[in-house]
Amino acid sequence: MFLILLTLILCSSFATSQVLYPPQYTHSRIVGGEEAAEGVAPYQISLQGLASGAHSCGGAIIDERWIITAAHCTRGRQAGDFRVLTGTQDLRQNSSKYYYPDRIVEHSNYAPRKYRNDIALLHLNESIVFDNATKLVELDHEALVPESRLLLTGWGTLSLGGDVPTRLQSLEVKYVPFEQCRAAHDNSTRVDIGHVCTFNDKGRGACHGDSGGPLVHNGKLVALVNWGLPCAKGYPDAHASIAYYHDFIRTHLSLSKTDSIDDNQEEMITAEN
Ligand SMILES: *[C@@H]1O[C@H](CO)[C@@H](O)[C@H](O)[C@H]1NC(C)=O
Ligand SMILES: *[C@@H]1O[C@H](CO)[C@@H](O)[C@H](O)[C@H]1NC(C)=O
Ligand SMILES: *[C@@H]1O[C@H](CO)[C@@H](O)[C@H](O)[C@H]1NC(C)=O
Ligand SMILES: *[C@@H]1O[C@H](CO)[C@@H](O)[C@H](O)[C@H]1NC(C)=O
Repeated sequence: MFLILLTLILCSSFATSQVLYPPQYTHSRIVGGEEAAEGVAPYQISLQGLASGAHSCGGAIIDERWIITAAHCTRGRQAGDFRVLTGTQDLRQNSSKYYYPDRIVEHSNYAPRKYRNDIALLHLNESIVFDNATKLVELDHEALVPESRLLLTGWGTLSLGGDVPTRLQSLEVKYVPFEQCRAAHDNSTRVDIGHVCTFNDKGRGACHGDSGGPLVHNGKLVALVNWGLPCAKGYPDAHASIAYYHDFIRTHLSLSKTDSIDDNQEEMITAEN
């Protein structure tokens, strides 16, 4: 079934735009990176199928109760379909801590076919216990300047159709401004202002499996992997911009905190009665 779908996607995408991994079906992974230095990305998580235990997407810890990832990683799934591996750079190290989502908040204007608003939040049913290897990442609000260097991390295959590494990979990529990115994609509207684009030398960039994974600048989260052309063939990759989606993120995080305060107040009132 999956192979048939993939074949259809490959054919239709080569016929039209050559986008190899439309976000609703596939995942992107790092090509040409290197094994990440120990402790370089304590905010990195592996989003896994609860039943299969298989890595499917990347993501980042932004609060003790919240994970952020791409919407195409959660589309059509229930919160209970997932588990979140934290605190390790090695997928085999299964003594590490798993957390379980109880709610998915997909961006309400996520438009898979237009590649827009591809961002989602996962609320966990218990708070993450932070330690050396498990930390949240702060959100970046500042505009990036051209040539900014971003750190991309993920467990993607090392090449198209290649093996999934067990060790987290990292790659430094260069920020590409919106106009330049859109022009590089033949002025396609697939690239919009909600995207942060990055570029690296041909043969390096995101590939299958890094979807939803974090891009960080000066230690702060700036974007999440969204989509690209076939695995690092020289076109800029496009990622969901954290600055652009700041209100979406903040609204849901603060709402959940207000909710829990309200719950407590309700309990107090009930107790008084
Ligand atoms: C961890 O890995 C071992 C050996 O591969 C396996 O027997 C065990 O079930 C795994 N535990 C979890 C929680 O996945
Ligand atoms: C969270 O969900 C998991 C999986 O459903 C469950 O095993 C665990 O007990 C839950 N934890 C809490 C604190 O509810
Ligand atoms: C955390 O890191 C510090 C400094 O690198 C080290 O001394 C300490 O043992 C680490 N703790 C754990 C739990 O790994
Ligand atoms: C993209 O748009 C710019 C500005 O409108 C134009 O100069 C350029 O030729 C266009 N490129 C392509 C490939 O259509």
